[in-house]
Amino acid sequence: MRVITSARVFSDALEAERALGRRVGLVPTMGALHAGHRSLVARAAAECDVVAVTVFVNPLQFDNADDLARYPRDLEGDVRQATEAGAAIVFAPPVPEMYPGFPAPVATSVHVDAVGDVLEGASRPGHFDGVATVVAKLCSLAGRARVYFGEKDFQQLAVVRRMTADLSLPVDIVACTTVREDDGLALSSRNVRLSAADRRAAVTLHRALGAGLDLIGAGERDPVRVGAVMEEVLSDTHGVVPDYAVAVDAATLRAPDVLAGEVRLLVAATVGPVRLIDNVGVVVDVDDLDAPASATAVGVS
Ligand code: PAJ
Repeated sequence: MRVITSARVFSDALEAERALGRRVGLVPTMGALHAGHRSLVARAAAECDVVAVTVFVNPLQFDNADDLARYPRDLEGDVRQATEAGAAIVFAPPVPEMYPGFPAPVATSVHVDAVGDVLEGASRPGHFDGVATVVAKLCSLAGRARVYFGEKDFQQLAVVRRMTADLSLPVDIVACTTVREDDGLALSSRNVRLSAADRRAAVTLHRALGAGLDLIGAGERDPVRVGAVMEEVLSDTHGVVPDYAVAVDAATLRAPDVLAGEVRLLVAATVGPVRLIDNVGVVVDVDDLDAPASATAVGVS
């Protein structure tokens, strides 16, 4: 395992791997690794010859200084977990290595319209500019690579896909399914900040998504009604403050008039001191309008 802190050394290391004919896999993270991150690294290791994990708590994507200050950090644990999951390189740059003038605002940043403006983009202004900017920088440093992202952050995945295509970055984006606790809670680095009571309440995000899936499975095709039922499940749980609960087209992240084709259910809520998000996919069959409605859940484990 090589731990690299210099951007130039990181870039050169991956260039040298490619010169030896090796296929590079890249897994961008903000550290505090858990089984969700490890699943991305393991998949990258299965599909690539050398895997680099980046560990960088990106200050540009935090709209709240307190959230940034409280973000869990454990580089030693991250290096151990990255190694065990099959990575050969950890790139953990200090902030000035990525943003030399920080905390002065960066002069060049990346904004992704449309998919970046709704939901998380609306609730957390500037968040996706920060994500798109850091991922663009990491991809430019890495060069040709397969880059692995979790469906847990479904809108982030959409933003990154759009950004890398529009900027012609030489990367292939790979989407990985969400890893969950036994009770359905999606793993997140933020979960460690939940009290025991908050932790019990947090599973309501998964339950709300399940209620949405059930409704669609029973034939409901109105996104407003599906959203309302999911929101009700969230707000019925003590200690949970819903932000949004929506059923949208998976490509545009906008609500269609009628749910059809690839649909995504997304929820966001604050539980105790922590803002949590989750989502699931469902394919609503529209091939034969005379046949009974059918809906197949995807991305649910
Ligand atoms: P972070 O929250 O550390 O997540 C890193 C990657 O792990 C993301 O692609 C995320 O979707 C994935 N991930 C997190 N929890 C997961 C789970 N339970 N199952 C599967 N994958 C999961 O997302 C970021 O960091 C940052 O925004 C980043 C892309 C690194 C840019 O700073």
